[in-house]
Amino acid sequence: MRKPIIIILICFTQFSIVAQSEQPVYKNKNESIDNRVSDLVSRMTIEEKVLQLNQYMLGENTNENNIGEVIKKIPPGIGSLIYFGNDPEWRNQVQKIAMDKSRLGIPILFGFDVIHGYRTVYPISLAQACSWNPGLVEQAAAMAAKEAKLSGIDWTFSPMIDVSRDPRWGRVAEGYGEDSYVNAVFGVAAVNGYQGQNLSGKYSIAACLKHYVGYGESEGGRDYRYSDISSQALWETYLPPFKAGIEAGAATVMSAFNDISGIPATANKYILTDILKEKWGHSGFVVSDWHAIRQLINQGVAKDRKEAAYKAFMAGVEMDMIDNLYFEYLPEMVENGKVPMDKIDEAVTRVLRLKFELGLFDNPYTPVTDTKLRYLTPEDIAIAEKLAEESIVLLKNKNNVLPINSMVKNIAVIGPMAKDKANLLGAWSHNGQEHDVVSIYEGLSEEFDKKIKLKYAKGCDFDGEDESGFEKAVEVANNSDIIIACLGEKMDWSGENGTRSTIALPKVQERLIEALKNTGKPIILVLSNGRPLELMRLEPMADAIIELWQPGVAGGYPLAGIISGRINPSGKLSITFPLSTGQIPTYYNMRQSARVNGGKGNYQDIPTKPLYWLGHGLSYTNFEYKRASISKTKIKRNETVKVEVIVENTGDRDGSEVVLWYISDPFCSISRPVKELKFFEKKLIKAGQTQKYEFEIVPEQDLSYPNAKGERFLEKGDYFVIVGDQKIHFEIID
Ligand code: GLC
Repeated sequence: MRKPIIIILICFTQFSIVAQSEQPVYKNKNESIDNRVSDLVSRMTIEEKVLQLNQYMLGENTNENNIGEVIKKIPPGIGSLIYFGNDPEWRNQVQKIAMDKSRLGIPILFGFDVIHGYRTVYPISLAQACSWNPGLVEQAAAMAAKEAKLSGIDWTFSPMIDVSRDPRWGRVAEGYGEDSYVNAVFGVAAVNGYQGQNLSGKYSIAACLKHYVGYGESEGGRDYRYSDISSQALWETYLPPFKAGIEAGAATVMSAFNDISGIPATANKYILTDILKEKWGHSGFVVSDWHAIRQLINQGVAKDRKEAAYKAFMAGVEMDMIDNLYFEYLPEMVENGKVPMDKIDEAVTRVLRLKFELGLFDNPYTPVTDTKLRYLTPEDIAIAEKLAEESIVLLKNKNNVLPINSMVKNIAVIGPMAKDKANLLGAWSHNGQEHDVVSIYEGLSEEFDKKIKLKYAKGCDFDGEDESGFEKAVEVANNSDIIIACLGEKMDWSGENGTRSTIALPKVQERLIEALKNTGKPIILVLSNGRPLELMRLEPMADAIIELWQPGVAGGYPLAGIISGRINPSGKLSITFPLSTGQIPTYYNMRQSARVNGGKGNYQDIPTKPLYWLGHGLSYTNFEYKRASISKTKIKRNETVKVEVIVENTGDRDGSEVVLWYISDPFCSISRPVKELKFFEKKLIKAGQTQKYEFEIVPEQDLSYPNAKGERFLEKGDYFVIVGDQKIHFEIID
C-alpha cells in the first residue's frame, strides 16, 4: 500500500522539476531578481522594451461611458500608469490585461501623487517640517502608503525635497522649507515611511525624490522657469537632500521642469547620470515630470520631439511621463544606431528591477478591501491630528492673550477660513474629501462645547472687493469678549502653478482686520496658507498669531486645543517669513554682507530683517537654556567633539522644545553662510524639569564643505557651534 504514495510523490517531484525547468527563469520566484530581470530582458523585443519606458494615465476621466474606451487604448505592455482612480478592482482589471494579454506578462507599475496623505490628508509638507518630528512624519507617510497601496498604487511621486527660498513660488508648500539639511531629514523620513523595511512589504510603495534638481530656484518665483544655479549652489544647497534620499534607498527620482543655468534638468547628463548614477550609484530609475521631455523644445534645447526624446534618454531619464516620445522615436533611433541597445537594456533593467522588488510579478493584484477599513481609520486620524498639532506655530502671543482665560464667555469667530473645509486640505490632496475635514469653527465648537458662546460672521471672501460683510462682523465682534479672525489662502493659490506676485493676503482680508481692530477687542489671528505670508500690516493689529498652515483633515481640534490651552504649541518655522515680498529672497543661512556696520546695504524704505526667522515658534511655557558645555576646544579632524546643553522648563506646564544646533565657520577658502543647521532634537520637558540635549560633531560630516565640483574639504581653524543664543568656540588643529 505504501508504494503508490511514494510513486505519486516521485511523479509529482519529477513533474514539478520538469515544470520548473520549462518555466522561464523570470517567472521563477526562487530565482534572484537579477537573474529574473536579465532573463526577461533577453526575451523582449525592442518594442516591448521601449513600452516599459513609457507611462500613460488612467482614470483621469472616470465617466462610466468612457472607461471601456480608455482601457481599450492602454497597450497591455505599458510600463506604468498614473492612476487617478482609487478603486483596486479597476486597477486589477487593467493589470489583468497586462498579465494575460501581453506576450511576456509584465505587470504595470501604478503611480500617483501621494504627497501629504492619500484619503486621510495630513498637513502640507512645509507644515510637517514645522513639527521638527521626523518620526511622526515617517509614520504619516507609512499610513499614507497603506491607504494608497490598498487603492491600487505601487509608487508615489513623493517626497518633494526642493529647497526653496522664494515663497512667491507656489510649490514652496510641497517641500520642507528653506534649509537643505531639513529637506534631507524629512525627505528620508518620508522615503522610509513609504518604502518600509523593504519594497515587497504588504503596504510598501516606491518613493520618488523630486524635482531633481533646483526647481525651487525658479526665476522670480514663476513656475517652470529658468533657474540660475551655480555649481557651488548646486552642491551646497540643492543636491544634498537628494543624496540623502538616495542613500536611504529611494527607488526613483523625478527630473524637474526647470532649466538649470542653460541645461534643463530633464536633459542634464551631469545631474542625471554623472552625479545620480555614477557618483551616487543610484540603481533605480528616473521618470520625467509631466511633459518635461516635450517641453525641452520650448526650452530651446531640442528642435523637435525626436531630438527631445533623444536628449532626455541619453542624459539619463529612463521613463517618459505622458509624452509617449520614447515609444514613438526610440525604436527607430536604436534601429539606425543613434541610441545603443545596451542603453535601452540598462533602462529597462532599472524599471523591471523595481517591479520585481515590489513583488508585482508574483503578486500583481491589489486585495479588495472595504473602504471603511481602508481609509480614515482611528489610527490614521490620530496621526493626522498629532501631526497637525505639532505643525502649528504660535508666532505671536502679546501679553499672553493665549490661552483664552476663564473670563472669556463669548468668542467672535470671523473670517473666510472660519468655516471653510476644502482649503484646509491644501494642494495635492486629490483623494481628500471636503466632508472629511474638521473646520476651525467645528474644532472650536467641540472644544468649548457651550462653556463659551461662539458667534460667527464670515466678514468677507478670500479675495475680491466686497466689504458688505464687515458690518455684521463688527457687530458680532462688539458683542464678544475676544475675536478669533480666520484668514488665509485658497488651496490653489499654492502648489503647482500657484505663483503669486505678492505673498500678502488680498487687501479685503486686511481691511476686515482693520475694521475689527476698531472694536478694541483682542484679536487672535489664525492663518491657513501654503507659503510664508507678508504680515507687516496684520502683525501690529493682532494680539496673537497662530500659523495653522493647511493642516489636512484634522486641524480643527488641535488648533482649538491650543487656543483653549489644552495643548501647548511646539511648532517652529521651517521657513523664514519675510517682512514683505520686497525682501525675497531672505533666509537664515545667508552669507554675511561685505559691510556689516551701520546698516550699509540695507533697504532704505523698509526694515531689512525678516518678520520671523526659520526656527521661530512660541510656547505657553518658558525654556531656559543653561550654559552649554563642549568636550574639547581643540580637536583633530578625525576626532569628534560633543556639545551639550541643559534646558529647563521654568514654567508651570509641560512643553516640548526643539533645540536647533548650528555651526559656523567664519573664515574659509569658500565663503560660508553665517550659520548652518546641522542637527535638531525635540524633547518633552515637564514643568520645572530639565532635559539634556547633545550634539556630537563629526568634523568630516558636520564641518566640511563642498566646492563647485562637489568635493568636500575640511579646513583647520576656528569654528563655532551655536545653540539658543550661545556661540561656543572650538578649533580644528590639523
Ligand atoms: C506634475 C508635477 C509633479 C507630479 C507630476 C504627476 O506636473 O510637477 O510634481 O508628480 O506632474 O502628477
